[in-house]
Amino acid sequence: MKVMTFNGSPRKKKWNTVTLLNNALQGAQSTGAATELVQLYDLTFSGCISCFSCKRLSRKKDGVCSVQDDLTPVLDRVKEADALIIGTPVYYGAESAATRAFLERLCFPYLKYSKDGRSLFPRRINTAMIYTMNAPDHMLPQIGYDRMFAMTQMMLQFHFGACELLLSSDTLQYSDYDKFEAEAFDKDAKRQRHAKVFPDDCRRAFELGVRMASGEVPEAKPMPWHE
Ligand SMILES: Cc1cc2nc3c(=O)[nH]c(=O)nc-3n(C[C@H](O)[C@H](O)[C@H](O)COP(=O)(O)O)c2cc1C
Repeated sequence: MKVMTFNGSPRKKKWNTVTLLNNALQGAQSTGAATELVQLYDLTFSGCISCFSCKRLSRKKDGVCSVQDDLTPVLDRVKEADALIIGTPVYYGAESAATRAFLERLCFPYLKYSKDGRSLFPRRINTAMIYTMNAPDHMLPQIGYDRMFAMTQMMLQFHFGACELLLSSDTLQYSDYDKFEAEAFDKDAKRQRHAKVFPDDCRRAFELGVRMASGEVPEAKPMPWHE
């Protein structure tokens, strides 16, 4: 069992997203799975360049992105993975730029433009998105984040078979709120909430890692356009 995780935060050590990913990794490792953490911000790569090589009728192989950059060997390893866990901070109501570019390159080569709308990924595997964000829980539907999460979940489920979401809201952005602009926040309330809730987010991430490594892929829900 091989579980690959991807950190889409430029803050590569200790911060919110990578901490949750490390907990998920530990959960996967506790089941005996082999794991890998890919730091997306260590790689130089682009999003999809719309060359459509992956859609050419004369292509030699399915599911291969012909762009050659630092992501190429990573995408090769994805072919052998049994689970993918992608962590990202929310930036301006979406995944971080590197995560978005990664998702385009990861998914588009497996999208088959056929009437039955199949994915070319040859197996059904578990995937998960871990989102960390400054916004508090109660605001998420109000500002449309639930739709953004659901869209990415649907995309991964369609291409790979299943996708779980783990949301960690109201995160800390600074180690010391007194040294940065923070007028908009109730600093003490934020610190207190973090101390109370983030350990629970870490526990949920650990359990997610265990589930991802179980090899049991939940039944796929039909895509809205197939219902
Ligand atoms: C450029 C930038 C844009 C951000 N935009 C949002 C946003 O739209 N909504 C939100 O809830 N948090 C936003 N945040 C806060 C981060 O999502 C949040 O602090 C996250 O937990 C950071 O993850 P990290 O600690 O792993 O880097 C933004 C942060 C940055 C740096």
